Amino acid sequence: MDGLADKRLLLGITGGIAAYKAAELARLLAKRGAQVRVVMTQAACRFIAPATLQALSGKPVLTDLWDERADGGMAHIELTREADAVLIAPASADFISKLATGAADDLLSALCLARACPLLIAPAMNRQMWHNPATQRNAALLVQDGIILLGPASGEQACGEEGMGRMLEAEALADELEGFFQPKPLSGARVLVTAGPTFEAIDPVRGITNPSSGKMGYAVARAAWEAGAEVTLVSGPTCLAPPPHARLIRVTGAREMLEAVNGALDGADIFIGVAAVADYHPLHPNEQKIKKGEGTLTLELAPNPDILAAVAGRPNPPFCVGFAAESENLYQFAELKRQRKKLPLLAANRVQDALGGNESELVLFDDAGAHPLPRAAKIVLARQLIRHLAGLYRPDPAAGRGTPD
Ligand code: C5P
Repeated sequence: MDGLADKRLLLGITGGIAAYKAAELARLLAKRGAQVRVVMTQAACRFIAPATLQALSGKPVLTDLWDERADGGMAHIELTREADAVLIAPASADFISKLATGAADDLLSALCLARACPLLIAPAMNRQMWHNPATQRNAALLVQDGIILLGPASGEQACGEEGMGRMLEAEALADELEGFFQPKPLSGARVLVTAGPTFEAIDPVRGITNPSSGKMGYAVARAAWEAGAEVTLVSGPTCLAPPPHARLIRVTGAREMLEAVNGALDGADIFIGVAAVADYHPLHPNEQKIKKGEGTLTLELAPNPDILAAVAGRPNPPFCVGFAAESENLYQFAELKRQRKKLPLLAANRVQDALGGNESELVLFDDAGAHPLPRAAKIVLARQLIRHLAGLYRPDPAAGRGTPD
């Protein structure tokens, strides 16, 4: 992950049991390159010791509006002037209500009021407290004021109840923050992405598929959202969690994927085919499980539609991006594929690199030639791909979609 390098973050911790997760969050933010400064409320100090956060952030933790360590004795001003963003995690119901009214009776609320940088909050509370109309009203006011709410999530709560109000996990919060800091060159664009393998049934328990994990396609969907796009993700079978910011359409076979793509294509400005679509499907899948026999078994296969070629071949196509996994002659085969499918941009990698792992290497091909991207995490490559794409894509106001230069 590259997103938080040199970012200066002020992590505010308020009084709630989820405060214990703030320690992991501080560690993760620092690990991803951020300089973290921690401010805690008095109530937060009842749940977790400032010394823990001091050790993890490497800086003194401030808890008091009257702390004399701050330059000029004005900690609430100094701290936010030095920050690129303030993140409050956890944000209790009480703290949310203070933000909504503009209260400034302790260091953390005062610096939120005095801040000159964006404020993101991760609410965490009992489900009844979250659903209480007062909290809902306050949360709506914060959104109106431009404060960004991360979560809450639904699930098991510390009090033993189940419902909405859990703080997002530290990893998810760090991801959200990284996304927040990404440039937004695709603001307003609608992006359709395919991901994962397809599964072509032979009988009710067997089928033809491939080892695509879907990680690259999901990373591309995420990177497109981070870049400001509205994203629809058509996904074959994967074990991945649904991406939090995309409309997800789950499919199984290639023909179902084509149908889903056709259904979602209306108004799409950009189409990115990352799915490892099976080239064939069994022509006559058995309704019942095929019994094992002594002899050989012959399957008759029929070709699947080429989804990407179909989209790119439309009269007024969206800006189309393809992926190619090659086992040899990557540069030659990938560029040929780009030309054959009439794509302004194609990303290629080696088969042995492409499948399953969290990292890969990509080469981008466009009209200007080949652009190799060094080995990196898939989300980092996805962001580079989206940035490259954004440099080529020009919104077409007449058609409401983009066209290559
Ligand atoms: O021709 P090849 O399968 O290597 O092309 C790969 C690219 O085409 C990928 O972007 C993939 O998502 C897309 N594709 C498709 N439908 C197919 C086969 C490939 O959309 N049936």
